[in-house]
Amino acid sequence: MMDKKIGDLFKPVTINQLELKNRLFMPAMGIVTADENGAYTKAAIAFYGARARGGVGLIITGANQVVGSAGKKTVSSFPTPLANPEAYTSAGLELTRAIHEQGTKIFVQLAASWGSLAEQYKGCNAMTTAQIQGLVAAFADSAKIVQAAGFDGVEIETGELLDGLTLAHLNQRCDGYGGALQNRFRIVCEIISAIKTVCGSSFPVILRFGMKSYLKEGGHQALPDETFVEQGRDREEALAAAVLLVAAGCDGFDVTAGISMFESASYWKYPPVYFGKGVYLELCEVLKKVVAVPVLAAGKMADPELATEALKTGRLDMVGLGRPLLADPELPDKLKNDQSKDIRPCLGCNDGCLAQLIAGHEASCTVNPDCNRELQPMFKTVTNPKKVVVIGGGPAGMEAARVSAVRGHQVTLFEKSYRLGGKLKYSSKRILKTADDELIRWYEIQLEKLKVEICLDELAIPEKIAAINPDILFIAQGAEARQVTFPGNDSDKVTNALDVITDKTYVGPRCIAIGGGLSGCEAALHLAMHRHKMIIVDSSPDILSAGIPLAPANKQMLRDLLAFYRSEIITSARLKAVTEDGAMIEANGQERLIPVHHVMIAVGFEPAPSLFKELQHNYPQVYQLGDSQAVKNIRAAIGAANEVAGRV
Ligand SMILES: Cc1cc2nc3c(=O)[nH]c(=O)nc-3n(C[C@H](O)[C@H](O)[C@H](O)COP(=O)(O)O)c2cc1C
Ligand code: SF4
Repeated sequence: MMDKKIGDLFKPVTINQLELKNRLFMPAMGIVTADENGAYTKAAIAFYGARARGGVGLIITGANQVVGSAGKKTVSSFPTPLANPEAYTSAGLELTRAIHEQGTKIFVQLAASWGSLAEQYKGCNAMTTAQIQGLVAAFADSAKIVQAAGFDGVEIETGELLDGLTLAHLNQRCDGYGGALQNRFRIVCEIISAIKTVCGSSFPVILRFGMKSYLKEGGHQALPDETFVEQGRDREEALAAAVLLVAAGCDGFDVTAGISMFESASYWKYPPVYFGKGVYLELCEVLKKVVAVPVLAAGKMADPELATEALKTGRLDMVGLGRPLLADPELPDKLKNDQSKDIRPCLGCNDGCLAQLIAGHEASCTVNPDCNRELQPMFKTVTNPKKVVVIGGGPAGMEAARVSAVRGHQVTLFEKSYRLGGKLKYSSKRILKTADDELIRWYEIQLEKLKVEICLDELAIPEKIAAINPDILFIAQGAEARQVTFPGNDSDKVTNALDVITDKTYVGPRCIAIGGGLSGCEAALHLAMHRHKMIIVDSSPDILSAGIPLAPANKQMLRDLLAFYRSEIITSARLKAVTEDGAMIEANGQERLIPVHHVMIAVGFEPAPSLFKELQHNYPQVYQLGDSQAVKNIRAAIGAANEVAGRV
């Protein structure tokens, strides 16, 4: 039975004349790749099919290229209707049939330029009128093919090229496509009406609408709470443009923010964990006041109460779930069936999805390794359940226990601390990282349902394991903070990042963090947001540079937040000693005393002592997982545990 409080999420809504069964949509995410003809693959159909089966009302595909030809299939190859219309239509028909069978509708996102494609039109002034008209025609021709393939509508993505033409500070043209607002948006209006001409006025055309650029002087992004003078598009201009766009036939606005120029580092387009919920809601609210067509928005909208309230109060008409549907494709149905506790939460890490795309790897999801691998064989349930013991309740241990139990094994998990979660339970204490806590809770609930025996506050000594005599032993004993010695390391001034974020230790108003990796920077931000003056010292030439690279948007936002909270950063420097007066550091060959109340050590982690060597030959199958094997990150820990526990 659905919780009545969230009933509004499941009321139908109409875009143009197209009725959608509920108010939930999946925004464009370029996760799947096309084949060498620019057509959708079987894997793509399975990816979207899984989301449709999960109950979402509307899917908007990841960006399709409007111009540019398809080439050899690569991990970043975009579907391209014009590359081989016949192949595109045939695969598209298969895709749309699969989606429609679930009662879900599907739009294609058509992008003027995306990534390297922007090169073709670099320098907006350089485009001739004929090229502009060619682009408009390419949109219309692509839309016609998309319609023939059974898709229910299109969304126009502005991308770098249309951003370049519509933004006053970038568009230097002196002709009818430059200058006044009406001229700058002329191309978008022409694209909309050209599509309507070839596809018919009832064919829905919506716009991915960056309503505010959040662009500061000097070309940097602005943070949500920052006071700054907007150098790009501001909401007043967006509202005026919206009126023009509706007059041209636009059937709806899918609100976003930021500009394409920042590409993957745009934290307004790919909001990282550090953002609060409902990233674009304020923009939607003002837009709703000036347009009568539906306003849609994603941007950390997975909280059902927030989403329902936003619908009820008329701030928007449809709620977007992008990354939340990568993490859990069944989210809509779980909400509907009152199983919200079973929804696997998105962490906002951008690591398994966006960062993998950028790195040229197959995109998936940190917490859901099955994402974008829907065609790969599912775990086999076992006919002969075995005894499985897991040592360690961090991400790797929890995932190994979950997968083993799903397959039908009888699982016992030992965790030496009071709660599951490993390092996650400490990161969840940091400001803005509540999603980590939600993930722990999700595992706690799943493991309980799967009847995994969880022994908390219990050290897994060899005798206890011998008493169980497991067939399979997973050792996932995690990592511990790396220790360093220096003159003064036993001083009261010295503390460590874990104690700081768990409030185990008092920290004075001025503090130095030794180590500018992710945990050092996040702990420093935590303190800086609590009004401590922070100084971060890192031995590398830059902070956040060691280990597995952070997703660009997350890295940029964390950097900007540290700067916003006035943290000082000293790179290529190292701690020499801690004295009564503060921290003595050496930078550029010179020693310097920094007066501080406390010195927080955050120089990374190393594998904790492990029972692997001692036990590896004692049982038929023994595996070491997660940080216990090599210190990496959550994606690596969950991914490897999922793979190994699914296979053995
Ligand atoms: C991996 C990934 C790929 C994306 N690809 C696109 C895209 O092709 N076109 C687009 O307009 N937005 C794209 N986005 C942005 C999403 O549509 C969405 O606005 C963003 O993820 C915020 O919504 P969420 O918090 O619900 O994920 C992408 C986001 C991610 C994480
Ligand atoms: S990889 Fe991270 S940000 Fe992307 S969907 Fe999964 S949990 Fe969310």
